[in-house]
Amino acid sequence: MILAIDGPAGAGKSTVSRLVAQRLGFQLLDTGAIYRSVAWMARQEGVAWDDGEGLARLAAGLQIRFELSGETNAVFVSVDGQEEEVTREVRAPEIGQGASEVSAHPPVRAALLELQRRIGRSEDSVVEGRDIGTVVFPDAEVKVFLTASVEERARRRYAQYMDEGIEGMRLPEIEVIEAEIRERDARDMGRAVAPLSMAADAVLVDCTALSQGAVVEAIAAQVEEKLKGG
Ligand code: DC
Repeated sequence: MILAIDGPAGAGKSTVSRLVAQRLGFQLLDTGAIYRSVAWMARQEGVAWDDGEGLARLAAGLQIRFELSGETNAVFVSVDGQEEEVTREVRAPEIGQGASEVSAHPPVRAALLELQRRIGRSEDSVVEGRDIGTVVFPDAEVKVFLTASVEERARRRYAQYMDEGIEGMRLPEIEVIEAEIRERDARDMGRAVAPLSMAADAVLVDCTALSQGAVVEAIAAQVEEKLKGG
């Protein structure tokens, strides 16, 4: 069973996806972390974020795994046969911008398609991203498109940075985060290949005024209904 959860940056997708995965006992595949890992690897290897072919080569060789425990979905990447934990590194704001740039290159997306399908279909999964219900798993059993207003998303991202306390980095102003979110939305929705858009058969969940608990309940109910054959 694949539960696809798509939506723009900062709608609370990560937390909701994790809570739903834990509630259902599904694995959590965070595809944003895959794009972030490519941006991070490129930085390590000296490949520019606008070098589509160079990035696609890195993406094709990417070995990644996740370990969900408590509040953290830890990310491990193998570089030259050496596994490294990059959970914190890939969450840095500039790696998020890098991931958005990296993800706009069609060869990068193509290189990551099989990887996502292989991990996702290996067991029951919550797959979180931008194009999961439309491109990666158009046959997903349940599809959810999670969104919220830009102001609310900026507020949540700010709170998330505060919680995570990104090491050695000054916390950005909330206005800066808001501008960043608008810029990222425009890029994610405007790219030629697999832009952020809602699948025709997805359920729209606007969580601007909904509690996290209510959102998790609503999504879990969709899956339970499906499992019962509904
Ligand atoms: O969800 P996130 O902030 O971790 O995602 C980082 C970037 O990766 C985001 O700007 C868009 C891109 N992305 C994508 O293009 N397709 C996905 N399925 C997931 C993320």
